[in-house]
Amino acid sequence: MTLFDRVFSGNDAVYGLTEGAIDAAIAQHGEDKAVSFPDTAYSLPCYYSVTGTKVTTLKELKEALGVVKTLMTREKRLNDAFMSGIATALCAEFIEVLKYIDGATPYEEPCYGHLADAVIRELGVPLVTGDIPGVAVILGSAPSVEEGVALVKSYQAQGILVTLVGGIIDQVKEAGMNTGANVRVIPLGKDVTSVIHVVSVALRAALIFGNVTPGDAGTLMKYTMDRVPAFVNAFGPLDDVVVACGAGAIALGFPVITNETENIFRVPKSLIVQEDVSKFNATSLEARDIKIKITNIDIPVAFASAFEGEIIRRKDMQVEFDGSRVDCAELVHTCDASEVEDHKITVVGPEVDEMEEGSKNSIAYVVKVAGKNMQPDFEPVIERKFHNYINCIEGVYHTGQRDMQRIRISHAAYDAGFRIKHIGEVLYSQVKNEFDAVVDKCEVVIYTDPAECTRIRHEVAIPIFEKRDDRLANLTDESVDVYYSCILCQAFSPSHVCVVTPERLGLCGAVSWLDAKATNELDPNGPCQVITKERPINEELGSYEDVDEAVQKFSQGALEHVTLYSIMQDPMTSCGCFECICGIEPFSNGVVIANREYAGMTPLGMTFSEMASMTGGGVQTPGFMGHGKHFIASKKFMKAEGGIERIVWMPKELKEFIADRLNATAKELYGIDNFTDMIGDETVATDPEALVEFLTEKGHPALGLDPMM
Ligand code: SF4
Ligand code: NI
Ligand code: NI
Repeated sequence: MTLFDRVFSGNDAVYGLTEGAIDAAIAQHGEDKAVSFPDTAYSLPCYYSVTGTKVTTLKELKEALGVVKTLMTREKRLNDAFMSGIATALCAEFIEVLKYIDGATPYEEPCYGHLADAVIRELGVPLVTGDIPGVAVILGSAPSVEEGVALVKSYQAQGILVTLVGGIIDQVKEAGMNTGANVRVIPLGKDVTSVIHVVSVALRAALIFGNVTPGDAGTLMKYTMDRVPAFVNAFGPLDDVVVACGAGAIALGFPVITNETENIFRVPKSLIVQEDVSKFNATSLEARDIKIKITNIDIPVAFASAFEGEIIRRKDMQVEFDGSRVDCAELVHTCDASEVEDHKITVVGPEVDEMEEGSKNSIAYVVKVAGKNMQPDFEPVIERKFHNYINCIEGVYHTGQRDMQRIRISHAAYDAGFRIKHIGEVLYSQVKNEFDAVVDKCEVVIYTDPAECTRIRHEVAIPIFEKRDDRLANLTDESVDVYYSCILCQAFSPSHVCVVTPERLGLCGAVSWLDAKATNELDPNGPCQVITKERPINEELGSYEDVDEAVQKFSQGALEHVTLYSIMQDPMTSCGCFECICGIEPFSNGVVIANREYAGMTPLGMTFSEMASMTGGGVQTPGFMGHGKHFIASKKFMKAEGGIERIVWMPKELKEFIADRLNATAKELYGIDNFTDMIGDETVATDPEALVEFLTEKGHPALGLDPMM
């Protein structure tokens, strides 16, 4: 049999199964029965992105199958094989969606099945920054449990996101391996059709971040090929169905690596036979051109971004440090070169061995840095990375920052020999690695002695934090001479540009004006460039000739005008990694804001995901805007439309998070006390009528403003 025959026969088999399954479903439920995946605004995401048609009922699903059939041409040309591969994938999606009829939850622990839009948006930033350098799809059963687990772990140690389909799921389970999105190992499902759930992620990424028009299959495939660093590892023996799925993967630009030698035909860079499973990793990275940044740190446990989301439960922890209960601090301190001894790590106070198991302790670490180009403004930028550095240690968990951090060290890490001094080792090597442009020498002092921690916290750290806050609070858009662009997200959202100002941070929430400034100085040719502001056009809108020129240049002409303070006129674009979205609510003349964490309904009749599907992709969408959480309390928030008094609704959690700052801004701008009490939330209303009733009762100022459109 030729490769063509195998693809075609696999495709035919899956098509037959799909047809049977749809007919059976229609017989059971009737053809008007609704079909959908949960938590997505993209219907059947694969079918929708390839054809531009949204399927909502079994009847439409049956019609869609007719469209799929037209892809299944049978000439022996490469394109026919690719299209049959895509057809196989679409059939798999149909089979999978049938499992979700009537709100069923067909997948159980540890399998995920369909992944929500929110998961894809969360993957956006790490994929952009290269923090997730690739996506591995492992299919079938490895020759042995050991080989399978070793392969999964090898990717995990590189930060690669691993998805599992079929027998490998039981193999990692048998080995007792921890799986889940938080450790970047996602078992999808045991049926081969569940592989569609990762394809669905890749295709939705193209719609969400790449602004690919659904139905534009050519651009879609180019996007996945150029920008989604995925690849497939398929364990033999391969049946024809898997071969057909593989053809679909290759059509999307994802190489397939297999240990099958019989009846397989090598296609350079696309279908690769690697008999030695221990070489799958290297072969795959080479085929997909993935470069891994190597971080060799001298500690007894692994260090990789895959461990960033790992959670250490109370029962699994050896000791904990908790800034909310005892005195803790983390600080970068710029010193004179003579005061810093490079790579010196000192622990002042007890080591973990001397701490009672399960106890809560103090910790304060001061990272002393020196360098000709070092500036105190960089200190908070470096400090903010500590969370990420410490979290990447296997078996160590970190949350919070400044003097409110919390760290847990697991039994397993402790048993492997991990001690406090290794935290110093990690901080040292990462700071030297990442900030080599400004840090020439670095020394770490870690205090665990409670009295010393109290001293460091109250006498050293807090005064420095306060000074920094004052500086930041005094920074306004008017008080600075330049703004900065950020194009970090262009790796995924090719025409997106953020303009970062002191009062408007990047929409991801992670890049403040000071961060952008530091990024620019650390890497003058990097993602953040200076934007002058010498030629204002309209101060109310926040429009400048300089800004327009910059966005034109950095978007390669995709954008012509961008205002900084308007949601209606030439608003800033959104990539996809916004912390929040705000959208106009016509009945109250106001805007509704939803944050990513909020899964419920908003008074716009849309969830966060649905609002997000109208906002991303680096295009301007007047009336909708992605933004960072902290922007909500800014005096520049929608200044052109009247500012924060337009805010009529926010999820309760977000409201509480931003309350102090938002109330202070409302008091200053409008003389309103406790403004957040006037803003609705999901406990008050999730429909416009109830919301307007609530706002009327509270005398919310938006009701008296001009309509926004
Ligand atoms: Fe992406 Fe904008 Fe954040 Fe830069 S500031 S990382 S472009 S969202
Ligand atoms: Ni204290
Ligand atoms: Ni982004």
